[in-house]
Formats: sequence, structure tokens, C-alpha cells
Amino acid sequence: MSITPFTDPALIAGPLYADANRLARRTSALHAAKISGPDATATITDLAATAAPGAGVVCDIGCGRGSTTAALAARLAPAQLIAVDQSAALLATVTARLARAGQPVTTLVADFHHIPLLDRSVDLAVAAFCLYHFPHPQQALTEIRRCLRPGGHVVLATKSACSYREIDQLVATSGLDPDAVARPSLYQSLHTDTITQITEGVLTVEAVVSQQHVFRFNDLNHIAAYVATSPKYQLAKQMAGDPVALGAALRARLLDRPVTATSTVTYVLARRR
Ligand SMILES: C[S@@+](CC[C@H](N)C(=O)[O-])C[C@H]1O[C@@H](n2cnc3c(N)ncnc32)[C@H](O)[C@@H]1O
Repeated sequence: MSITPFTDPALIAGPLYADANRLARRTSALHAAKISGPDATATITDLAATAAPGAGVVCDIGCGRGSTTAALAARLAPAQLIAVDQSAALLATVTARLARAGQPVTTLVADFHHIPLLDRSVDLAVAAFCLYHFPHPQQALTEIRRCLRPGGHVVLATKSACSYREIDQLVATSGLDPDAVARPSLYQSLHTDTITQITEGVLTVEAVVSQQHVFRFNDLNHIAAYVATSPKYQLAKQMAGDPVALGAALRARLLDRPVTATSTVTYVLARRR
């Protein structure tokens, strides 16, 4: 049994990423709420550009909608840029995005446990906000290590286990999902407190950066827009995934007011020995 919905293969291949819609709505709700904390894509590309300024082969693993892929293309202009994800729909978004920017990219539909690249063929890899989708992330790290050339680098990113805990509390208090706080974190398998040690088991860690992000949701409708995209909550069928119904249910139970939530984002720069 999966320890969290984020490690449930059926959810990952289906409702979470089978199309780009949920991820786009989640990102949009979070971006609209963000009031402080450095831009994650900029932090990743800064670490990548400092560690591997002339990287020829760059691979963005679990690339999602390609925000980081596009930033790596613009910043590093590698000879070959490869985007890997198990969602063909998300990779189609990446292809369109990079084409609009005039940047060539090779997309590979693949599981990050079986990356279809030769041993020692990659100068720089990025795996941002994706390795927590497996209960044993060291297995994916071992596969990434296989693809890196000796001396090659990887930039990893994850979130703190307590990310958005304030929203769990609000949902629990509303009575819509009383167990929301007690349930394990979505980031349970790889989070701020474990990423360094797990990475050190496979690669040489060169830098660890943690940054706090603060989000101010304007009102309960804004909270509902976020909650409707999160697999964490166990909500009645008629409101799960429906931000309008969820917003109405929250407003019927709670005082409508702005809500502040936090998340620590942790980045690890590591090298293949
Ligand atoms: C939250 S998104 C992160 C996207 C992107 N890296 C970013 O920083 O915005 C997680 C991505 O990991 C991908 N993913 C999850 N499990 C995977 C696996 N086993 N192999 C390849 N990709 C996977 C999902 O399809 C999704 O695109």
C-alpha cells in the first residue's frame, strides 16, 4: 500500500499527471498566493549554472510542464537538452513551450527508474519536485547516477514535510476532512529533513540550500482552488476536485478570511564521484 497519495502509481499515472490541467491549476493557485520566497526555477538554474557552466548534455528528469526545462535552455544553452517524464501529455506541453521559445529539446516518455540514456552520458541533471513520487527515492538517484558522467552534477529539489500544514488545519477544522492533519505528508518519502542523507548514500553532496516560501490565500475560494488540486484530502465526492462546490462548503463552515501558509523548499547539489 502507498504511504501517501503522492506515491500511489495509479494516481501518478492517472488523475495527477495524465493531463496538464491539475498541475497547471495547482501552480496557478500557489503562484497567486505567494508573497515571499525566492523563485524555485531561478534557484535551480543558479545552482546548475554555477556547478556546470559549460554543460553540453543537460537532462531535466520529471520535468512536468517544463518551467525548469525552459529556464535551463535559456541559461545554459546546452548542446543537447533532454526532458524526461512518464506523462506524455506533460511532455507535449514541454515540446510546445520550448518550440515557442525557439529552443530545441528531446523528450523521452520514461520512468525515472529506467532512464533510456547511456551510462555516463549526461553532464548535468535536474530532478525537481518529483522524486517524492516513489517510496524509495534512492533507487531513482542510483539510476540518475548511472546516467551522469564522472564529475557530472545533479540538482534536486523537494519541500518540507510540514508544507501547507496550515491548510491541512483549516480543512480539518471545517469538518470536511477531520483527519487532514493526522495523515502523512505528501512529501514523506523525500523532504527537507531527509534529502541530504538519502542523496549522500548515492552521490557526493556539494551544497544544500533551504528557503522558506510564504503564501497568503486571499479567501476561502482561493484556498478551495488549491485544495481541489491536492490528492491529500479525502473529501465528499460532490466537492472533491470542484473548487466552486468546495469554496461554498468551506464558506458555510468557516469565517471567510485570508489564510497564510508556509513551505520550506530544499535544493541539493550533488556530484557523481
Ligand atoms: C510536481 S511535478 C514536477 C515538475 C517539474 N519538475 C517542476 O519542477 O515543476 C512531478 C512530475 O514528476 C513526474 N513523475 C512522477 N513519477 C515519475 C516517474 N516514476 N518517472 C518519471 N516521471 C515521473 C510527473 O509525471 C510530473 O510531471
